[in-house]
Amino acid sequence: LDNGLMRTPPMGWLAWERFRCDIDCTDDPKNCISEDLFIDMADRLSEDGWRELGYVYVNIDDCWSSKQRDEKGRLQADPKRFPGGIPKLSRYLHDRGLKLGIYGDMGTLTCGGYPGTPLDKIEIDAQTFADWEVDMFKFDGCYSNETVQEKGYPLMSKALNATGRPIGYSCSWPAYQGGLPPKVNYTQLGEICNLWRNYGDIQDSWGSVVSIVDWFFDNQEVLIPAAGPGRWNDPDMLIIGDFALSMDQSRSQMALWAIMAAPLFMSNDLRTISSGARSILQNKMVISINQDPLGIQGRRILKEKSNIQVFWRPLSDGASALVFFSRRSDMPYRYKTSLKKLNYTTGSYKVYDVFTDKTTTLKDSTDFVVSVNPSGVVMWHVSAPAKLNQRHFDRRGNAM
Ligand code: DGJ
Repeated sequence: LDNGLMRTPPMGWLAWERFRCDIDCTDDPKNCISEDLFIDMADRLSEDGWRELGYVYVNIDDCWSSKQRDEKGRLQADPKRFPGGIPKLSRYLHDRGLKLGIYGDMGTLTCGGYPGTPLDKIEIDAQTFADWEVDMFKFDGCYSNETVQEKGYPLMSKALNATGRPIGYSCSWPAYQGGLPPKVNYTQLGEICNLWRNYGDIQDSWGSVVSIVDWFFDNQEVLIPAAGPGRWNDPDMLIIGDFALSMDQSRSQMALWAIMAAPLFMSNDLRTISSGARSILQNKMVISINQDPLGIQGRRILKEKSNIQVFWRPLSDGASALVFFSRRSDMPYRYKTSLKKLNYTTGSYKVYDVFTDKTTTLKDSTDFVVSVNPSGVVMWHVSAPAKLNQRHFDRRGNAM
């Protein structure tokens, strides 16, 4: 969507995967969906170095509202859990250089059973969010149908735009259409949404991460051309720092989300996150790969019989990123290849290992070995080849 927003993939924190629809503020006050939770996360983002790295959105998901609209027909926050209302939160965030995201649903109800935004409520809800100074809106699709979605998703895009407030627009539409053409029209989506969920919800398990990775790269020929500045495929939240992933698996999620030019929304508890998980999420080089201004989504270039997979993303100034991903479950695998075998042109390349901070220089024809841990990655930033002809890539990642 050409609204000037999200020219690189948005980054921040989103409540859903980690905190779900916990509304029990009596017995579980630290974890329930309430203004305190979002204030806590805002404090962490601004005090623990996240904001400076680009993690600026704090996004409310389902279960924030009252079960009733107010007397004027507007959505309202649950008065017990959000006593200051949403405007208090947006002020709190803006004072700290952060942005607020909120959630709604195209159907009669949200997935969690809260009031939805059917067609006749789209304008009033868009205006309410703008009045509250919200910066991003995620539009879910439970309890709606194809006809309603076809009208509603574009209508909401217009309504948000008509408020005059820049509001990033996240559409769950393709996820409710099976994610692929002919049902999903990615040209149209890119015109109406800044990002969109294409596939099922992430859960706190490695299997869930792997199924998302497989779906996105199995369908890369459809998805890559859809992405670009202002319009992103969204493989869902980062679960790094939660309960399921090992450190190797956490690096894998981070690396592959960077290759995919995916929005980076963490759903974790920033108050208690381990230093290991934090350093993966705060890795500057991975973030800068994710945020590359060209905004070209990367691709899987090899699926080896050995169960090593290789991913590649073209970056600005003729640089690129490579990820070697092990789908093995035995021991570190010594994968032997050369840049030439990975389609690099003749030349000498400066290679920076993103997770070990080591730099080497490699000629395209030099054989090298990377040792890839089970369910882990090795990720490289590869500079443009010295002196020799630089490569430029078109939107599909073909050399020009
Ligand atoms: C389905 C969405 O895909 C999730 O991300 C989350 O928003 C839930 N609905 C909330 O009910």
